[in-house]
Amino acid sequence: MSGENKMATTEDRIVIRGLRDVAAAETRLSFVDPNGALYYLGYNIDDLVGRVIYAEIAYLLIHKKLPNKDELAEFKSNLISAMQLPDAIVESIKAAPKNCHPMDILRTEVSHLGEYDPEGYDLSRPANIRRATRLIAQVPAIVATIYRSRIDQTVPEPRKDFDLAKNFLYMFRGSPPDDNETAVIHQFMVLHADHGFNASTFAARVTASTNSDMYSAVTSAIGTLKGPLHGGASEKVMDMLDDINLEEEVEEYIQGMLDENKKIMGFGHRVYKTEDPRTKHLRGIVENLCHRERTLSLYNKCIKIEKIVYERKKIYPNVDFYAAVAMDALGVPKEYFTPFFASSRISGWVAHVIEQYEDAVLLRPSSKYVGEYGRPFIPIAQR
Ligand code: COA
Repeated sequence: MSGENKMATTEDRIVIRGLRDVAAAETRLSFVDPNGALYYLGYNIDDLVGRVIYAEIAYLLIHKKLPNKDELAEFKSNLISAMQLPDAIVESIKAAPKNCHPMDILRTEVSHLGEYDPEGYDLSRPANIRRATRLIAQVPAIVATIYRSRIDQTVPEPRKDFDLAKNFLYMFRGSPPDDNETAVIHQFMVLHADHGFNASTFAARVTASTNSDMYSAVTSAIGTLKGPLHGGASEKVMDMLDDINLEEEVEEYIQGMLDENKKIMGFGHRVYKTEDPRTKHLRGIVENLCHRERTLSLYNKCIKIEKIVYERKKIYPNVDFYAAVAMDALGVPKEYFTPFFASSRISGWVAHVIEQYEDAVLLRPSSKYVGEYGRPFIPIAQR
């Protein structure tokens, strides 16, 4: 084809920059309503948060129905068993360099888990449901193991009388969470479980659309979540809150950032045109934890930041803003905020991977070529 013909085929193409508002596939899993609501399989999250445990939502996402008591008991038991990681994974975590980010180790170890899948390359739906169930438990177990090994402590065995979320916090911190902390981790994980075609979920679906395996898809998702424009934002929120020494300095700090056209982490959203529906729940969680001196101080800074950013930019906090303070109150160090996000979003990722296998279409967009044509080739000896 001549250069001129090629130009004719691409110049009519319309680029939707950032794929904004492009519907790349159908989904039944979650609906991110731009008017400020979020639905999992048709249930408004406002009706779920505080009334379900995280395992119910993980079950809902992969089985497309809420479990009854027996189904939940069996699912919980399968999850707890899967929290026991293969020895090779534990050893590999211990051997990781001490200075890399925990998300780097998580990304590597999920990929590594693929080598130890007891069902090999069986990509049938039942095998994928079982694999999804294992991954929902293995990701938080990996995160707990990374942290414990870095502080030279052993990871406690998962307890049969604790569910997944409670075991996660128990294994991470080494001591059983109290009732209030258990309620917080469930709400946090429920709120982070799924969110439409966000960047990491889309990355997982692109990988799954080539009929690649679930570990490859989740590895893609983890790498995508890590970025500060996505799940990495909550760690940056805490960097900012730590940078602001006193509540009285908030105004000057934030005005200065906005004057320099810098983004305020934990604010803005691609889809929501109003407040992120998860924010009020996370703000409420933090308000309940304000009896802790540090949490109260962080909360006061957050309230001031919200006010200033809204006045200047008319944008709202997103899920990552108060999530950072909630995690801090649970005693989670900031470099583990994104791993905690991943430990919850894993249920959404694997559900989307299964849905993508069922859709059975290769996700492969086109591009608009804006480069040159017909350049004369010069052999290397003459360049
Ligand atoms: N701080 C300051 N201004 C922001 C902002 C933020 N966090 N987020 C968006 N804006 C402003 C943009 O500068 C732009 O203003 P303009 O129209 O005057 O140029 C406007 O709001 C639209 O933002 P845009 O970047 O086009 O939105 P987007 O849909 O491409 O990006 C995010 C969405 C989430 C990537 C973006 O809001 C952001 O970077 N937020 C900070 C990171 C973050 O919290 N990520 C977690 C998302 S859940």
